[in-house]
Amino acid sequence: MSPSSARAVVNLDLPGATISRHLYGHFAEHLGRCIYGGFWVGEDSDIPNEGGIRLDVVEALRALRIPNLRWPGGCFADEYHWRDGIGPRDQRPRMVNTHWGNVEEDNSFGTHEFMALCELLGADPYVNGNVGSGTVREMSEWVEYLTRSGDSPMVALRRANGREEPWKVPFWGIGNEAWGCGGNMRAEAYADLARQYATFCRDHGDNKLYRIAAGANVDDYDWTEALMKSFGCDGCAGSKGGPFQAVSLHYYTMTGTWDDKGHATEFTDDDYYLTMVNARRIDELLRRHSTVMDRYDPCGKIGLVLDEWGTWWNVEEGTNPGFLYQQNSVRDALVASLHFDAFHARADRLVMANIAQTVNVLQAMILTDPDSGALVLTPTYHVFEMNVGHQDAASLAVHVDAPARDVNGVDLPLLSASASTKDDTALISLSHLDASSSRTVVLDLRGRDFTDYSARVLTASTLQAHNTPDDPDSVAPRPLDGIRLHDRGLELDLPPHSYTTVSLQLQP
Ligand code: AHR
Repeated sequence: MSPSSARAVVNLDLPGATISRHLYGHFAEHLGRCIYGGFWVGEDSDIPNEGGIRLDVVEALRALRIPNLRWPGGCFADEYHWRDGIGPRDQRPRMVNTHWGNVEEDNSFGTHEFMALCELLGADPYVNGNVGSGTVREMSEWVEYLTRSGDSPMVALRRANGREEPWKVPFWGIGNEAWGCGGNMRAEAYADLARQYATFCRDHGDNKLYRIAAGANVDDYDWTEALMKSFGCDGCAGSKGGPFQAVSLHYYTMTGTWDDKGHATEFTDDDYYLTMVNARRIDELLRRHSTVMDRYDPCGKIGLVLDEWGTWWNVEEGTNPGFLYQQNSVRDALVASLHFDAFHARADRLVMANIAQTVNVLQAMILTDPDSGALVLTPTYHVFEMNVGHQDAASLAVHVDAPARDVNGVDLPLLSASASTKDDTALISLSHLDASSSRTVVLDLRGRDFTDYSARVLTASTLQAHNTPDDPDSVAPRPLDGIRLHDRGLELDLPPHSYTTVSLQLQP
C-alpha cells in the first residue's frame, strides 16, 4: 500500500448487529445557554417560538432525527427538584445552579416544557432523576406524574397543570456521576442506593422504563464491575433483583489538563493528531467495559449507555467559564465521526449514546448568538446529518488497510471507516485523518452488486475552520467529485482532514 493510498474492504452481504438509532442521542442540561437562550426563549420572545421553544432550533434538529434527549443534567440533575418546575411559571421557586456559573435558575423550563420540546423534536425523553440530593419518594412521584393514567395524587396534580394524558417516558437515569458531582459515593454504596431508587420507579400502565444506573468515568472498570456484580443477571435465568436495564459511561475527548484543556480553534497539527488518538480511545473503553459486563451478564441483557461524550475545550474568550461555551471546528467533526465508527462496531452491547451537549455547550450541534439570536450549524451537526442513514441499519464488517502515523508512540491509522445496510442501500463512512495530504482510497465492495452510488464530503481548507453567523457555511457538506468505478468497487480521492459518506443503491 503506497503512503498516498488506502483500501477499505466492505462485506455488503454480512450484516451484523443493528445500529440502534439511540446511538445518535443527545443531551441538554441546565447549563450555560443550552436550555435558556438555546432551546428556550420564552413565549414573549421576538424569536419565533412555540410555547417558548425556539422553532429554528427545532427545525434544524429535526433534520438529524434526534432519537432521544437526556435532561435535566448532568451534574444539575442531582440538585434539581422537579416540583419546582411545574405550575404557573411566575410562581415557580428560584434556585442557584451551583455547578454551572452559580447563576439563578428560575425554573421556567420544567417538566411540561421538556416534554413539549421532545414532542416537537420527535425524540424520546430520557429523564435523569436526582439521587444526590433528592429522595426516593420525590423520584417515584416524578415517574407517577409523568406516566400514570387513571386517578392518583400525581395524576391529579398533572391534570391541574393542564395535561390530561400521561406521557411516554422510555428512559430513566438513576442519578448522574455518583462517583463525583452526584454525591461522591463509593461504587458499592451507590449500587445499593440505586437499587432502592430504581425499585420505586414503577412501570405505570404500559409505560416500561429502561432504568439506567450512573456508571463509570472513562477507564474506571472497577466501577462497572461493582455495578455489574450487584445488578447483573444470574446466568441469564433471571434478574438477581437489581431492577436495571443499563449502566452508563462518560468519556470526554480533550488534549490538555482540566485546568487548560486547549483552545477550540487555535491548535497545532500535533494537538490535532493527539486529539484523534484520544478520540479513538473510545473503542478501547467500550470494548473493555463490555468485557467486564460480559462476565456478569453473558447474554447481554444489560445495556451500555455512553450518555456523555464529546470534546471539551477551554471556553471561548469573554464567556462565563461556568457556561462551557466552545467553538467547533473540522477537528470536532472528525472526533464525532471516529466515535460513530466505534459505536457501529460495538453496536451489540452499546445501546445508547448522548453527545454533550446539543446547543451552546461543549461539542454542540448548534451555536446561537446571545445578542442577535442568529443560529449557526457546527461541523459536528453536519456529521450527525450525514450519518442519519446509519440509524437502525445493520452494521457491516469493514477492514481498513491504511498507513498509520506515530503519535507519541501510538499508531494512528490515517483512515477510519464503518458501514451499514438497510432496505437495499448501504452507507459507508470514511474519516480521513491526514492533516495535510489527500489520499486515494479503494472501496473494495464484496458480496453484493450495486446499481448506483454518490458521495458527500465535509472539510475545509484548514483544520481550524468553523462556522460563524458571518460565515455560516465555511464547513458544510458538498458532493465529492471524481468518484469512479474500480474493478473491485469504487475509487475516490479524499481531501486532507475530511469526512466522507458514500451511499450505494444495492441490487435487490
Ligand atoms: O456535560 C457537562 C458535565 O460533564 C455534566 O454535567 C457532568 O455529568 C459531566 O461531568
